[in-house]
Amino acid sequence: MFQQITALPPDPLLGIAAAFKQDTNPKKVDLGVGVYKTEDGKTPILTSVQKALQILLDTEASKSYIQPRGNQAFLDGMEKLVLGNDNPLISSGRVESVQAPGGTGSLKLGFQLIKRSNPNAKIWVSGPTWANHVALIKSTGLDHAEYPYYDKKNNALKADEMLEALAQLGPNDVVLLHGCCHNPTGEDLTPELWSKITELALEKGFLPFIDIAYQGFGQDLDTDVAGVRELLSKVPEALIATSCSKNFGLYRERTGLITTVSETPELAAAALSHVLNIAREIYSMPPSYGGAAVGIILQDQALTTEWKGELAEMCARMRTLRSMLVNKIHERGVDEDFSFINRQNGMFTFLGITPEQVQAIRDEYAIYMAGSSRINIAGISSSNVDYIADAVAAILKK
Ligand code: LMR
Repeated sequence: MFQQITALPPDPLLGIAAAFKQDTNPKKVDLGVGVYKTEDGKTPILTSVQKALQILLDTEASKSYIQPRGNQAFLDGMEKLVLGNDNPLISSGRVESVQAPGGTGSLKLGFQLIKRSNPNAKIWVSGPTWANHVALIKSTGLDHAEYPYYDKKNNALKADEMLEALAQLGPNDVVLLHGCCHNPTGEDLTPELWSKITELALEKGFLPFIDIAYQGFGQDLDTDVAGVRELLSKVPEALIATSCSKNFGLYRERTGLITTVSETPELAAAALSHVLNIAREIYSMPPSYGGAAVGIILQDQALTTEWKGELAEMCARMRTLRSMLVNKIHERGVDEDFSFINRQNGMFTFLGITPEQVQAIRDEYAIYMAGSSRINIAGISSSNVDYIADAVAAILKK
């Protein structure tokens, strides 16, 4: 049976973690996979999450199946978090959500739903986008193409080109947008661009599919999704894939949800039935623990406040790390201006160095980053920032 298959190369992102682990250089630095780290390089469980998990441990009376759509407190709480507490969409009957295994599982359900509704749909992804977006689209058997997004040379959005490209689209098209903290560039849509994209979606009829994996990692929970909320208040239909991996630090608990916004409550019910059916065909129902923990947090005011404080702390730390890195590189007298890193949001930025320079920095300094030169800001610390800045400066001056 399996004689015909040959080994694949490592995953472009997860492979970095494996290579890093094997490196014996004591100075090695991991700026690869998007995982939050504290000053001492640890990824601890948030205190609010620990408390919620303890409550769960103390109160969970059965390991019987959970309902296929997931934990209701989780779904209700997350809809409010993303859409806003008083969003009339929530009571309109036009919104349905299904818990899914992480952001990836949520995206997969969304793409499968698109495939069922319109097998000829074409998914437009930002150039560049998260590597796994394209893999998920391809594995669903959908067509895809890139819309212009980031100008690597000038470290800026390709705003005009993007709008021109989106203006060519129609009802068979789906535009995958990053809700905030664009992965991999860190460069977010401005409020004006969200408005213009909303207008284009209304005029041309394409479906916005929003990936929200970093809410609260940019500015704050509300500001980060202001553009998304504006868009959702106007468009007839949308899909939203939300991940709790980063903002709740629940990476391994695979916690996320897919939300459908439909034109009418009847269409919303139909979409829900299909999402549930698709999930049943792949994995039946989602894992319980992560969703249950988030549900407990979002239902409890004290735990919510504690979680928001922890999230704000992570966000503030990444801002500090950004400016620390920019200053340290600048102090080393390199010609290139890295101040764009301060303007950007979330966990990632492109250093803008070539793949050869990425390889050289790995070989010579044991500093690991994605081949695109994307770095995980949270991998920087006050104890390694000088080493990183020395390496970047040396590589650039070569
Ligand atoms: C990343 O982009 O590094 C994270 O989202 C982790 C992943 O699954 O790729």
